[in-house]
Amino acid sequence: MPILNILPFVHQMLGNHLKNGDTALDGTAGNGCDTVFLADAVGEKGKVWAFDIQHQAIEQTKVRLESENLLNRVQLVHDGHQHINHYIRQGLDAAVFNFGWLPGGDKSITTSSESSLDALNAVLALLNPGGIAVAVLYPGHDAGRVEARAIESWAEGLPQQEFAVLKYCFVNRQNHPPYVLAIEKLRRK
Ligand SMILES: C[S@@+](CC[C@H](N)C(=O)[O-])C[C@H]1O[C@@H](n2cnc3c(N)ncnc32)[C@H](O)[C@@H]1O
Repeated sequence: MPILNILPFVHQMLGNHLKNGDTALDGTAGNGCDTVFLADAVGEKGKVWAFDIQHQAIEQTKVRLESENLLNRVQLVHDGHQHINHYIRQGLDAAVFNFGWLPGGDKSITTSSESSLDALNAVLALLNPGGIAVAVLYPGHDAGRVEARAIESWAEGLPQQEFAVLKYCFVNRQNHPPYVLAIEKLRRK
């Protein structure tokens, strides 16, 4: 099998993990690619929440979901992912955060360390045993570098008895390429 690029790797992880009836979160809906992927993976009995602070992103995601006939299993939330506890009151089987700015949008509107860490902490509390949270980090620009460092150092401090943390990155690519941190909430033995 070839080495997968970052986003195909993320989708493969999520696709292998999710099954019909599961619950999932897209913490950064953006153009809707990940939300559509999750909505398909949880099947007709499943549910997805998708957050974004930009109206444009929520609208774009809605259009994509409608065109795939998947909108009925997704709750779109025009709010910051740091507030997920206001909206989600049940366990999650998977979550994805594709941090950074909206591709093709305003690059000054980007995720930031503090709210990203609040969201990740909230997600870990909501994850069902065996559930996974996957983050794509973009250290190739200044704000992304600060955010990636903060999130990686937070992830390194997670107790290994409770969480398995994987880093997936290309070590010979130029210009600080994006990489993945994947966190699994371990089942109790
Ligand atoms: C890299 S894009 C997401 C790409 C998306 N997953 C896709 O499939 O197209 C990052 C998104 O995060 C959003 N964002 C920034 N801060 C946020 C926050 N606090 N809560 C939720 N979304 C946020 C931006 O508006 C932007 O649309």
